[in-house]
Amino acid sequence: MKNHSNDHQFNIDKFYKNYLKGPRIFNNRDALESSYIPEELPHRDIQIKDIAEKTACALLGDTPPSFLCYGMTGTGKTATIRYVSQKLAQQCSELKPWWVYINCNIVSTPYRILAHIYNTISREEKIPPTGLPKDIIFKKLLGLLDSKVGNSICFLVLDEIDILVNKKGGNEILYDLTRLNENLDKCKTSLIGISNKLKFKENLDPRILSSLGEEHIVFPSYNASELRDILNNRAKITFHEGVLKEDVIPLCAAFAAKEHGDARKALQLLRKAGELAERSQNKIISSKYVEKAQADLENDYIIEYIRGIPLQAQIILTTIYLISKFSPEHIIISGDIYEIHSEIKRLIPNIRQLTKRRISDYINELTLAGIISAEVKSMGHYGRTKIIKLDIEIKLLESVLSEIEKIKGILNYKPILLQSDKVKLKDNIFKKLI
Ligand SMILES: Nc1ncnc2c1ncn2[C@@H]1O[C@H](COP(=O)(O)OP(=O)(O)OP(=O)(O)O)[C@@H](O)[C@H]1O
Ligand SMILES: [Mg+2]
Repeated sequence: MKNHSNDHQFNIDKFYKNYLKGPRIFNNRDALESSYIPEELPHRDIQIKDIAEKTACALLGDTPPSFLCYGMTGTGKTATIRYVSQKLAQQCSELKPWWVYINCNIVSTPYRILAHIYNTISREEKIPPTGLPKDIIFKKLLGLLDSKVGNSICFLVLDEIDILVNKKGGNEILYDLTRLNENLDKCKTSLIGISNKLKFKENLDPRILSSLGEEHIVFPSYNASELRDILNNRAKITFHEGVLKEDVIPLCAAFAAKEHGDARKALQLLRKAGELAERSQNKIISSKYVEKAQADLENDYIIEYIRGIPLQAQIILTTIYLISKFSPEHIIISGDIYEIHSEIKRLIPNIRQLTKRRISDYINELTLAGIISAEVKSMGHYGRTKIIKLDIEIKLLESVLSEIEKIKGILNYKPILLQSDKVKLKDNIFKKLI
C-alpha cells in the first residue's frame, strides 16, 4: 500500500495561503523588468539631447540623419532610444514616425531582417520565415513603405548591430538598408545602429560607415553615485514605502559599479534582493539579501560561462577539479594539467591531445573569466612556473561539470599522477618555495 501521508510533502495550498498573508514588499514588480521604460533617465541628458536634436526634423517630415550609439552593456542605449521614440511620438499630431526595432541577436539573418521589417509594418505575418528571393522581398518592402508609411519617416533601429556585421551577408544587407531612400518615392527611412562593441567599425564596409555618419553618440558607463540615483528613482515605484533599509541601494550600486557600471546589473540585484526577502517572509530588505543576491547572480554567471566554453576548456577545468578533489593540498602547476589532460582525454571519445601552448591559452581564458587564478612563481631549479588555484566553489564546479554528457563519467576518476609518491615530494619542495 502506498503511504498517503502528506507529512513530508510540500503543501502547495498552505504555501499560497501563507504567501497571501505574508508581508507585501513589491508595489509594482514590473518596474524592474527589462522591458519597462522609466519616466526619467537620470544621467543620460547629453545623449537624450543629442538624439532629440538629430531626430527632431522628423516632426517636419524631413529625413533625420542615420547614426550610431555606442557604450558598454547596461549603459542605457536601448532604454534611451525607446524613451526618445516615445517622446517624439507624443509631439506628433499627424505623420507620426514609425519605429521598427530589430534586435540583431534575435533577428539575425539578412532575410529575416527584411521579413521582420515588412511584417512589423504590415502588422501581419505576411512574409514567410524562409523561401522568397531577396530582391522580391525588397521590392515588396519598398512598395509597403511607400503605401503604408507614406509621407512619414520610418526609423529602423538595429540593436546589437555588431552581431550583424560579423555575419555572412551582414555588410550587404546594411548597405541595402542605407540605400533604401534612393528607391522610395514618398516614405523616408533613417537608420539607428546600437552596439556595445566599440571595435565593430573596423569590420564595417566604408560605404556603410559614411552613410551611418562618422559621428556617433557615446554612452559612458555609470559610476556608483549615478547608479544610486537610477536605483532610487526605480525603487520608489517598485517597492512599498519603508521596506528598503538605507544601505541596500548603495550596496547594489557599489556591486554594479565594480562591474563597469552596468545599470541592468544594479537593477537585477535590487530585484533579486527583494525576491529573497519576500521568499523568507521578511518585510524589510536588508543588505544581507543584496549580498546573497550578488552571490546567486555570480553563480548564475559562472554556470552560464562554463556551459558555454569549448569542450577542451571544460576538460581543463575537469583536471583542476580532479586535483582539487583528490588532493586538496596539491599545488597545481600547468605541467600537472598537461599530464592529467593527456591521461583523461583517452577516456573521452574524439578528444585531441593539446599542446602545452594551447593549454596555457585556455588557462589564460579561464583566469580572465575569474574561474581560476594563475600566478607565475620562480621555483628554484624547476624554473618559473604558473601556480593555479580554483577561484570558485568546488561544489558549484562539480554540479556544472556533472551536467556535461562527455565529462560526467570521469568525475570520480583518480588520475595516476595523484596516486604517486613523487607528487608528495614535489608538493613538499614547492610548499617550501612559495
Ligand atoms: N539612466 C537610466 N535611468 C534609468 N534606468 C536606466 C538608465 N540607464 C539604464 N537603465 C535601465 O537599465 C537597464 C539596462 O539598460 P539598457 O537595456 O538600455 O542597456 P543597453 O545599453 O542597451 O545594454 P546592452 O548593450 O546590453 O543592450 C534597463 O532596465 C534600463 O531601463
Ligand atoms: Mg540594449
